Amino acid sequence: MCDFLSSCKLEAMNLKTNYMGFQLDHPVIPGASPLCYEIDLVQGLLDAGAPMIVLRSLFEEDIRINNFRNNGTNYKLPPHIASEPIIEPNDYLKRLTEIKQFAHVPIVASINGSTPGGWVKYATQAIDAGADAIELNIYRIASETDLTSEDIEAEDIQIISELSKRITVPLAVKISSNYSAISNYAEAIREAGAQSLVIFNRFLQPNIDIEHRTLTYCLQPSTPDELMLRLRWAAILSTHVPLPLAITGGIKTGEDVIKAVMSGATVCQVVTPLLEQGPTFLTQIVNQIQQWCESHEIDSLDEIRGCMNLKHASDPRAYERGNYLQMLKNAASQITYSGLPSKISSQPSQ
Ligand SMILES: Cc1cc2nc3c(=O)[nH]c(=O)nc-3n(C[C@H](O)[C@H](O)[C@H](O)COP(=O)(O)O)c2cc1C
Repeated sequence: MCDFLSSCKLEAMNLKTNYMGFQLDHPVIPGASPLCYEIDLVQGLLDAGAPMIVLRSLFEEDIRINNFRNNGTNYKLPPHIASEPIIEPNDYLKRLTEIKQFAHVPIVASINGSTPGGWVKYATQAIDAGADAIELNIYRIASETDLTSEDIEAEDIQIISELSKRITVPLAVKISSNYSAISNYAEAIREAGAQSLVIFNRFLQPNIDIEHRTLTYCLQPSTPDELMLRLRWAAILSTHVPLPLAITGGIKTGEDVIKAVMSGATVCQVVTPLLEQGPTFLTQIVNQIQQWCESHEIDSLDEIRGCMNLKHASDPRAYERGNYLQMLKNAASQITYSGLPSKISSQPSQ
């Protein structure tokens, strides 16, 4: 194709995506992290074409420490948490206002917590400070023996309901994958007032220093295989729950974004590749998506959205079980049993 025709095709191609009620130029958003907080870094992301900015999180603990200082509101800090906030809530609001002044894309404030309570009111101040939408990150580890999974989900839903009742801007909820009935939980999140779901938090686990018997906190970059879990759940959730999905975790290439969209996701959020490669990663990944669409004569991402989700399966549970069996069957035929007697290779896998 001559250059002129090829540029006409690019013009016609439409990566525009509607997410949380905002029309975005493309579906790749810088996710919550300190990158989306420093003014010059945010400017760099905008220059590279970021269609939306999700600010780093303001944490429940920080808000509670702040409330305690200002009003003496009773709050017992979890034992391992320093009494100094990670971010001073007032600084967060000021920064939000500063970013809002120069950014011409929607700004999403992220609040991050795990227990119901008045701390969620802070979201209204973030909106007053300029946030166009709120992302609520519910990050918790269910370690209590006296709490059932139903109790835990009910608490989460209470946080979401309390928040959604108080705000008029769109609300996204970022969740972890460690729930036993994710589709049911996602539907409850929708009913509680969320307008989109971000899947999934990565579990950030400390390691153990065996010499000093201490914990070490070293955040590992995400890896491409983390995407598989998200694709699978996007395919399931987009079939059963009418809630737009953002995938976060393991997106590295334009092909990954195409897979996410085919699985039913509306947008993807990225952090690790931006930390590793800088803002130009955004330009590259959008070019890769455009090139793929062009070579496959796709004019709009809506043409492929959800084409690989479960909506064609008459029995999703059987479909899921079928995938599992098929994976094991393929693996059994490909595995090489180094160091083991050859007859073992003829035995069926578990
Ligand atoms: C350094 C760093 C800081 C992060 N801070 C936040 C945060 O404040 N709030 C949040 O919801 N997620 C936070 N995340 C998680 C990211 O938003 C994202 O969900 C996760 O890194 C997976 O995307 P990735 O594979 O592109 O890194 C952070 C991630 C990193 C690497």
